[in-house]
Amino acid sequence: MNSNNQIEDPRLYQREGTQSEHVGPHMNMESEEDLAPNSAIERDFPFREVNRLAESEVYNKHHYRPTNYQHKWWARRLGSVFRTLCISSLSDPETTAEDVWKRYAESNDFEDRVVLDPFMGGGTTGQEATRVGAKFIGADLNPVAWYISRMGLAPQTSILEMHFRQVMNSSNDEIRPYYKTKCPDCGDEVGVQFYLWVENVEYSNIQNERQVGREYDTLVVDHKRNGGATVVCPECHSLSEVKDPETTDCSKCGHHFDATQEDVRVPIDEPNLVFNGGERPAYEPYGVKYDCENCGDGFSKFGDFDIERYEAASERFRELSDELPLPEQSIPEGGEKTRDLHNRNYTKWTHLFNDRQLLALGTLLKNIKNVDDELARHYLTLTFSATLEFNNMFCSYKGADPRGPGAVRHIFSHHAYVHPGEPLENNPLGTKPRQSGTFRYLYEYRLKRALKFQNEPVERILNGDGTVKEKKSIKGEKIGGAPAESIDELLNEDKTHYLYCGDSGSLPVDDIEVDAVISDPPYYDSVQYAELADFFYVWMKQSLEPDFPDIFAPDTVVSEDEAVGNRTREKSLDDYQGLLQGVFETAYDALKEDGPMVFTFHHKEPDAWGAVLEAIDGAGFRVVNTYPVRGENRLSVHINGQRAIQLDSAIVCRKDHKRSTGEWDDVVQAIEDESWERLQNFHESDDEDLSLLDASVVVRGACMTQFSKYEEVINNGEQVNEREAMNCVEDLTHELNNREF
Ligand SMILES: C[S@@+](CC[C@H](N)C(=O)[O-])C[C@H]1O[C@@H](n2cnc3c(N)ncnc32)[C@H](O)[C@@H]1O
Ligand SMILES: [Zn+2]
Ligand SMILES: [Zn+2]
Repeated sequence: MNSNNQIEDPRLYQREGTQSEHVGPHMNMESEEDLAPNSAIERDFPFREVNRLAESEVYNKHHYRPTNYQHKWWARRLGSVFRTLCISSLSDPETTAEDVWKRYAESNDFEDRVVLDPFMGGGTTGQEATRVGAKFIGADLNPVAWYISRMGLAPQTSILEMHFRQVMNSSNDEIRPYYKTKCPDCGDEVGVQFYLWVENVEYSNIQNERQVGREYDTLVVDHKRNGGATVVCPECHSLSEVKDPETTDCSKCGHHFDATQEDVRVPIDEPNLVFNGGERPAYEPYGVKYDCENCGDGFSKFGDFDIERYEAASERFRELSDELPLPEQSIPEGGEKTRDLHNRNYTKWTHLFNDRQLLALGTLLKNIKNVDDELARHYLTLTFSATLEFNNMFCSYKGADPRGPGAVRHIFSHHAYVHPGEPLENNPLGTKPRQSGTFRYLYEYRLKRALKFQNEPVERILNGDGTVKEKKSIKGEKIGGAPAESIDELLNEDKTHYLYCGDSGSLPVDDIEVDAVISDPPYYDSVQYAELADFFYVWMKQSLEPDFPDIFAPDTVVSEDEAVGNRTREKSLDDYQGLLQGVFETAYDALKEDGPMVFTFHHKEPDAWGAVLEAIDGAGFRVVNTYPVRGENRLSVHINGQRAIQLDSAIVCRKDHKRSTGEWDDVVQAIEDESWERLQNFHESDDEDLSLLDASVVVRGACMTQFSKYEEVINNGEQVNEREAMNCVEDLTHELNNREF
């Protein structure tokens, strides 16, 4: 079928003339096409309510779901959405959406039910499923994901605190001397919170001579709340506080300048110190954020004392480097994301850290490896790995951004390795308990909060205006806590979960029947999980390989089996579809006959949706409903000059042996009817977000449910495939977006 011709076919959007001439004997099988629901989620879902709650969770993850916030995982889903998916999937078909929503803030106990997530990532489904009392089977082929999920569901240990203190004390003794500076006011030797570095570039000056210089984004280092700022003088390089950064006289040399201009090149004779350089971009330190007990904290110029401290750290690092657990792995070549590193000659993972960082991180990890209690060691390894995100030369300072002062912008603020202009070198032990991105902070405010939440989960109940009315502790619920070594043990003993590390296409599920599959596959090529996760993996391996020799044996987590599209690795949409289908087939084998498979998805390309539908159909499932749900950080888009919200779709499937043949014209008409009805409902509801919804999520959802009713869909005697169908309804989206309500 030629999809372009089909789009121009006027019959597509006309109500009359839909009665096809090709109606065959199969077409009168209404009852078979519209199946009675087997579970609440097939029928309806309280997405309005949960999306409202999810909206606040997005911006307060650390408070709403601390268990889901202990370590970076990319494109994590929201706990509130997955909690509701769990409750709805496990409730019987008589349960209304309203009842499901009532259960949201109540204690639930779906005892003896089993939930499978074959793409568990950071473990959102596992946390929510065990909380509502179900047993959980989770799988991910990425060891970092497996480990994060594992620790999010692990039992607790009372001796953790003692081991944390020991690790802190010994690391402090060894590392602290290298994070000292001289207070510019009182001259005392004081602690350093972080250092600021800037890239050195070579360029031609106005006289056309080769010149080396520092390349600053702007000369403003830090914005103050009162409109003032800390600025760096382009003449004498000193840092000082000024009232008006636009017109400044340097207090040290009198130079007059506007610190707010962007992309400033400041020529220098010679850098004070160089990180990398040669074949890689070169960086030089220029600022210190110190913390003086007498004078408070402030910024100062990176001076001679600081040069000496860095050089001492560097020397100490060279002495110890053979003894420290450091990742020696090369960065794999040929990646879509790691290519950005190779293009700048970062070829080993250690190239992303300076000597002082390697000394400090290596020392910390060495001390963690010495912890004799296995569980405590595993928790501290997780927190160590979380610390890496804020302690490398791809971090930067948020303070120059007036909207987000005060914290470290970590390496993965995008799903990529973004070349840093002005790296921030954090002190991983910090000088204060609440200093952002330190091992101590992550232990106190992420790990400990998560452990508390694990035993006493809390839900927020909102007022009509979206503010929090009540924080309600959900009695009787608890997250994980009793891991099983095998599926058999999980099912037959008092255990909460079993986690598998490997390709879910080969998950052994022969003898099991799960009640629901609740998942979240990669969204085609949106995130290159493995290429990003290697950053953590190579360090984790240092600590975890002795305990998990098979899982942490490889040098990289990049795998052929990862169900993603990847241009530079020549993994196509067909490859993605095949891998996804393989996993869906496993899910099919594991799922009981009338159980739902529910997962979230979003992509801008209709082809990607088509591939997902193909995988669903190919594995023997049928889509019975879809709902718009809040995803991680999906942005608003503008359609026809109006703001529209791009939501994820929760796609609800069930096992089905399709029998009938459908006519494309009828299918299109049904898609249009279903979409228009839904959009009108959204429009009439007083939910502002839903009335601004991007119509494509509705139309694509309707296309999935209508198309997958049939064994095959025929247009002018030829079979229509899933990708063609998804492409054909694109114009319908535009038409519906323009249609008056
Ligand atoms: C979208 S993420 C899941 C995120 C998770 N819902 C969360 O909130 O953290 C998809 C996951 O699928 C995993 N994955 C990809 N291909 C896989 C395969 N063949 N078998 C098992 N897991 C796979 C990836 O490693 C990734 O962690
Ligand atoms: Zn002082
Ligand atoms: Zn000056």
